[in-house]
Amino acid sequence: MLKALLGYAFVCGAFASAALIAAPTRAQDDPAARAQLCGACHGVDGKPVSAIMPIIWGQQSNYLYKELHDYHSGQRYNATMAPLVKAIDLPNLRKLADYFAAKTWPAQQTNVAAAAAPPAATMCKACHGQNFEGTQAAPRLAGQNYDYLLATMDSFATDQRTNNLDMPGFMKALTEDQRQSIAHYLSAL
Ligand code: HEC
Ligand code: HEC
Repeated sequence: MLKALLGYAFVCGAFASAALIAAPTRAQDDPAARAQLCGACHGVDGKPVSAIMPIIWGQQSNYLYKELHDYHSGQRYNATMAPLVKAIDLPNLRKLADYFAAKTWPAQQTNVAAAAAPPAATMCKACHGQNFEGTQAAPRLAGQNYDYLLATMDSFATDQRTNNLDMPGFMKALTEDQRQSIAHYLSAL
């Protein structure tokens, strides 16, 4: 009887430990659980905590996955994002991309004054869409944070960001003033 009870306790204990070991794995495979970490910077309501951080809620799914993939492989480098993303495998990065793409792009955060469309922004629509809301082939730019937009456009222009063949050339063809006015225009959309 005692032996049977001890055996029972042992089996229960084994189940309990197995459950403890399995639980964190399951939690991490759930994109909603993992997304809490991302929310610390990208915002729990889709509004990033700092304007140097991009809005990712409602961004194009293909684009989100490509960027996560590129941070993972090192084709795009950022000291903050690289270690976070390298710890997650590609199938789970795909789940995170789909999770954030399904959210709603946050409403305009500040009263950014609308600006007239700079002539140099016309050619961008061919890929980024007529309203700059992105396509399956290129990211949404409308309403993105000004500081982030300008920083990433500059990083293409200076060969810091090289994970696309066309964008560095397009950004080098513009002056710093033109990049600023385009970033201003896009962020206010
Ligand atoms: C400590 C702050 C921080 C955390 C936490 C964080 N990010 Fe980021 N994220 C950033 C910054 C800063 C950038 C801009 C990096 C750059 O310029 O390459 C960025 C860029 C990105 C981009 C590129 C967006 C674009 O428009 O190109 C994606 C996608 C992204 N993060 C997703 C995530 C996901 C998913 C998580 C959670 C697993 C996460 N981030 C956690 C700070 C953070
Ligand atoms: C031939 C198609 C094409 C044209 C034209 C184009 N882009 Fe892009 N752009 C892309 C693609 C594709 C990406 C995603 C690159 C990657 O894989 O990281 C991108 C990325 C960007 C990003 C980074 C967005 C982010 O969230 O990090 C910005 C900003 C941008 N483009 C601005 C512009 C502007 C401004 C113009 C016009 C002057 C322009 N692009 C013209 C295809 C294009």
